[in-house]
Amino acid sequence: MMLPNSLLFLFLLMSSSLAQPTSSKQDMLIQCLTYHSKVPIPFSTTFFTPNSSAFTTILASTADNLRYIVPSVPKPEFIFTPTHDSQVQAAVICTKQLGIHLRVRSGGHDYEGLSYVSQIETPFIVVDLAKLRSVNVDIQQNTAWIQAGATIGEVYYRIAEKSTTHGFPAGVCTSLGVGGHITGGAYGAMMRKYGLAADNVVNARIVDVNGRNLDREAMGEDLFWAIRGGGGASFGIILWWKIKLVPVPSTVTVFTVAKTLEQGGTKLLHKWQQVAATELDEDLFIRVIIQLTSDSKSGKKTVATLYQGQFLGGVERLLQVMQTGFPELSLTQKDCTETTWIKSVLYIANYPSGTQPEILLQGKSTTKIYYKAKSDFVKDPIPETGLEGLRKRLMKETTPMMIWTPYGGMMSNISESAIPFPHRTVLFKIQYLTIWQAANQNEAKHIDWIRKLYSYMAPYVTKSPRQAYVNYRDLDLGINKKSNISFIKASAWGNRYFKDNFNRLIEIKTKVDPENFFRHEQSIPPRPLPARRTRN
Ligand SMILES: Cc1cc2nc3c(=O)[nH]c(=O)nc-3n(C[C@H](O)[C@H](O)[C@H](O)COP(=O)(O)OP(=O)(O)OC[C@H]3O[C@@H](n4cnc5c(N)ncnc54)[C@H](O)[C@@H]3O)c2cc1C
Ligand SMILES: *[C@@H]1O[C@H](CO)[C@@H](O)[C@H](O)[C@H]1NC(C)=O
Ligand SMILES: *[C@@H]1O[C@H](CO)[C@@H](O)[C@H](O)[C@H]1NC(C)=O
Ligand SMILES: *[C@@H]1O[C@H](CO)[C@@H](O)[C@H](O)[C@H]1NC(C)=O
Repeated sequence: MMLPNSLLFLFLLMSSSLAQPTSSKQDMLIQCLTYHSKVPIPFSTTFFTPNSSAFTTILASTADNLRYIVPSVPKPEFIFTPTHDSQVQAAVICTKQLGIHLRVRSGGHDYEGLSYVSQIETPFIVVDLAKLRSVNVDIQQNTAWIQAGATIGEVYYRIAEKSTTHGFPAGVCTSLGVGGHITGGAYGAMMRKYGLAADNVVNARIVDVNGRNLDREAMGEDLFWAIRGGGGASFGIILWWKIKLVPVPSTVTVFTVAKTLEQGGTKLLHKWQQVAATELDEDLFIRVIIQLTSDSKSGKKTVATLYQGQFLGGVERLLQVMQTGFPELSLTQKDCTETTWIKSVLYIANYPSGTQPEILLQGKSTTKIYYKAKSDFVKDPIPETGLEGLRKRLMKETTPMMIWTPYGGMMSNISESAIPFPHRTVLFKIQYLTIWQAANQNEAKHIDWIRKLYSYMAPYVTKSPRQAYVNYRDLDLGINKKSNISFIKASAWGNRYFKDNFNRLIEIKTKVDPENFFRHEQSIPPRPLPARRTRN
């Protein structure tokens, strides 16, 4: 079996050139994948060209930001949806051999669509891991092996299915793919108690640039460090994470309190900044969602702040914690609901009340909007005058949104260099968003608005560098060119995402992928060749 196949493959390879027309390149890729996969590949259901009727549906299936599937955006030449780990290895080996640019997608939630769009380099193909989504929970060992294409909601469900007192501290939005999500850090409502998802990873399997499938021991501690926060698609393709489960109480309390900025909300927001990270118990997480609403009486547009909370415990203790730490919110028993941890996940993710956890098994995105987002970190409370200017700017936009996420607790107990994610000693993170409903509907205007807001906020946020969260990918911060990457330019975004850890990421990248096979607009660049020569 093996011999004729491999001979045929060698023949095809030798007769190839990079200028092959698409169909013959496609044949060669299929041949190569067949040769390297350990199990037969059902190509009719795993390999899609723009000509196949399913192509558009598959491409859009997990694309979260609709901006990146409009017709004017470049499309992949093929989409491959492997059904076995060895097919991911084959995809790396074969695209490398054939000189095809590869993008990898897990949950498709990249803010700038980098997992399924290449703006700097065409043609390209997408390896979509949606069919690799096993979640194997081991309650006795307190761990789980989770496959890259699973959503974080499926992981939560599979844990809760086996135990009401185990959980995992990762993202709020349940349709995130664990492949991309955890490589960037991954925070959620339990971060103040347990840190990030990446802080709770104990092993992983990755396909490296040579197509090898490596676990923690085989990849070594440097690479294992880099993939827990260094951002997606720079070092290889994550196949699996092994995560450490964390204890959760059988009763968890959730609440939402709404205040408009006009109703004394500015003072309250000022107070929240002073207590949410530093004063409140680590069991308590209160984030603030800021958006426009119309006043219930006058019908006039106004800025609303929603204080959305999760408390790892019952309502009685929560009210005590609030009485000492944040009485200004006037939280009452009426605002609170006692529930299980898994239902608190649904609550924080904004599912309608009464939704059953089984919805998480659909692994589907609930959003699907056109948007642009940016991020900031804050170390000192923004003064009330600053908040007032912010209010005025929000009022000028159609659908603006901000989410303020409190840090403190476990976050500040972990050193900045423990993993590449460096944002440990801040009060809170800001996410800015502007959302629109139809393609090209004043897109330029919305983007201009958010950029101006970002400039306005500069005095109030971290400086030198002005820190940003890599999982809130923002190409405004700079992009790599196809080749000959400028380090000065890359540091513009690299230092913001990773601070000093950027240097170590570059060293590791240079070691594991010196030719820069795994690359995108903001991937970690390897050191250029001449510099490497002088070092050896
Ligand atoms: C609606 C929404 C809510 C969000 N909420 C949160 C939140 O609560 N907390 C939080 O921390 N973040 C949140 N994020 C950000 C999220 O963590 C990132 O967008 C993350 O990169 C998504 O991972 P993904 O697999 O879904 O995305 P993808 O688009 O598939 O991948 C993102 C990046 O990782 C790469 N990648 C994907 N799979 C792999 C793999 N297997 N191996 C190596 N590289 C890979 C991709 O090529 C791409 O560069 C949210 C995003 C959205 C859109
Ligand atoms: C797709 O279809 C077009 C026209 O229908 C054809 O010319 C082209 O060769 C096809 N491409 C592939 C990859 O099959
Ligand atoms: C963080 O460290 C402080 C001081 O050592 C400790 O009191 C606190 O419990 C720690 N927090 C967590 C969540 O481990
Ligand atoms: C790469 O960039 C440097 C500095 O910008 C330039 O001097 C050099 O010629 C470039 N090399 C290539 C191959 O483009």
